[in-house]
Amino acid sequence: MTATIIDGKQLAQKLRGDWKLRADRLNAAGIAPGLAVILVGEDPASKVYVRNKIKACREAGIRSEEHVLAADTKLEAVIALIERLNADARIHGILVQLPLPAHLPQAAVIERIAPDKDVDGLHVSNLGSLLAGHARFVPCTPAGIMAMLKTTGIDLRGKEAVVVGRSNIVGKPVALLLLQAGATVTLCHSQTRDLAHHTRRADILVCAVGKLHMIGGDMVKSGAVVIDVGMNRNAEGKLAGDVDYGAALQRAGWITPVPGGVGPMTVAMLLGNAVLSAERHAAEQGIKL
Ligand code: GUN
Repeated sequence: MTATIIDGKQLAQKLRGDWKLRADRLNAAGIAPGLAVILVGEDPASKVYVRNKIKACREAGIRSEEHVLAADTKLEAVIALIERLNADARIHGILVQLPLPAHLPQAAVIERIAPDKDVDGLHVSNLGSLLAGHARFVPCTPAGIMAMLKTTGIDLRGKEAVVVGRSNIVGKPVALLLLQAGATVTLCHSQTRDLAHHTRRADILVCAVGKLHMIGGDMVKSGAVVIDVGMNRNAEGKLAGDVDYGAALQRAGWITPVPGGVGPMTVAMLLGNAVLSAERHAAEQGIKL
């Protein structure tokens, strides 16, 4: 069996077209959707991600501001910037690019973002509302994964879903979303004994670890949906996921490529959350769109 490839780039393009129509409506009503992106330090991968996000905003009719801070910026200065953006009515979304330099505690920074501007959905209040089943903003990568799963047409109810990786940004929220969609969810992590035992049972396998080829072809159930969130460099310096793509392609029913899978979807869902936030702002002001 050769898997059907879930083309994240194509789906992201379609969604970005949808967000653009909504952003155009907002702009016509005098509300320019505004996203502020904060980058602290010089991490090369983060710089590329931020550049992609800013470019995508421009194409979608979303006004963006890039705030680049030196790697040694003190916590107080980062918080002061966040507070200023919280109070700025032209800003509907605030994103702090992760990871932060080691001296900046991630939670202490994220918790200062106003929850109704936290378009990454990572504030404890937003993670809490996601847990309770009424998310304000669904974190971007998990939202992108669910949108990709939807394109397969597979009914998730009763399916065995296995998530590998327990981060707050991907593993834990995507496990919650799969649970809410009716799947039976197993969340595996670095201390899991016999990972292959779990992954081989998975109808839906999501891998978000960041370790090249940690999922071999023999760890994939025949016909499974394989979602690869990994972004690694292989020996030739090329981007590659957590899954041995060539081998898994021969066993899976559906699979996401790297690059061109989950990555573009993360950016698309960010734009969606920024537009949603601006629409809520318009509704609060009684502006009809
Ligand atoms: N770093 C890698 N992915 C993400 C993301 O989705 N949001 C933020 N803020 N930082 C990231």
